[in-house]
Amino acid sequence: MFVKNTQDKLNNLKQKILDQLQDAKEKKVLRDLEIKYLGRKGEFTKILRELKNLKIEEREKIGKLANQIKNELQKKFKELNSEASEFNSSASEFTDVTLSGEKIEKGHLHPITIVQNELENLFTSMGFVIEEGPELESDYYNFEALNLPKHHPARDMQDTFYVDTRKETKKNGQINTNDLVMRTHTSPVQIRAMQKYGAPLKCVVPGRVFRCEATDACHEHTFDQLEGLMIDKNISITNLIATMKELLKGIFKKDMEVRVRPGYFPFVKPGIELDIKCTICNGKKCPACKNSGWLELLPAGMVHPNVLKYGGIDPKKYSGFAFGLGLTRLAMMKYGINDIRLFNSGDLRFLKQF
Ligand code: DAH
Repeated sequence: MFVKNTQDKLNNLKQKILDQLQDAKEKKVLRDLEIKYLGRKGEFTKILRELKNLKIEEREKIGKLANQIKNELQKKFKELNSEASEFNSSASEFTDVTLSGEKIEKGHLHPITIVQNELENLFTSMGFVIEEGPELESDYYNFEALNLPKHHPARDMQDTFYVDTRKETKKNGQINTNDLVMRTHTSPVQIRAMQKYGAPLKCVVPGRVFRCEATDACHEHTFDQLEGLMIDKNISITNLIATMKELLKGIFKKDMEVRVRPGYFPFVKPGIELDIKCTICNGKKCPACKNSGWLELLPAGMVHPNVLKYGGIDPKKYSGFAFGLGLTRLAMMKYGINDIRLFNSGDLRFLKQF
């Protein structure tokens, strides 16, 4: 009786599965059915588990039938699987391929990068090469080779992040705690470029610089500059001013009125400050130009003979000019940005405007 019962159960189940397989056209449906019936916890397996309650000869008989059915079914699943499609074509999950896709928001350039690219284009069109230098710089390149010896009071002009490297320098028998600095300006690349190319030389160096400053709307610890350097025979301050005027024309798309004042930087002689007529009040004096009618924009000068020597260039044969444009400052003027801290804030409300 029990045997007959189990045989019927197996045959019925087989039929039930075969019936259901008739409609199964997708791989996922087949997979689900296989698990449901033939899986470890499936109905078929459940019946097989009951076999242990049978007598030996009965168990043999039923076991044989069960295996036969199972093989048959597995073969069928395999067969159907190879013909089935991967996709579900049932109406509820229908994919309309004609629908327009989801819009992926495109990124864009940072305002500093935009201004930097413009300047790079301008200078390469005048035959300058673009140079780069390390942001973690040696005290030597950042100060000493720029005519700023250790303990020189002019070092105080730039609040500096010194990096303690006691461990490395101990090996040489000398203990020097202030060997590396986060570069305070892009000027060290002047020396690196001179050593790399020699004279004549025309290069600009865009890059990030760092100062240990208390931040406010006009001061940041991290900002960008663009250094310029030109060295050749018979370079004079006239070449410097002409190049600066060309630069300003490129930026502001018109001839700019400039004024030159003396300025002190240890790596140039003479040093100058190039001001432009205030872009806001056109020289009539306003708060933006601190009521002077002029905006301070470009420190520059003729490269100091000592600096040429540090760069391996003979100051008796060659002369040159250099300038240090505040890229961040320029971007502020160009876009009318009144808080320097916005640039590195990562604030999308600010960034999305460019
Ligand atoms: N490196 C100076 C600074 O960051 C700016 C500067 C002044 C650069 C005069 C120059 C220069 O090349 O000639 O304050």
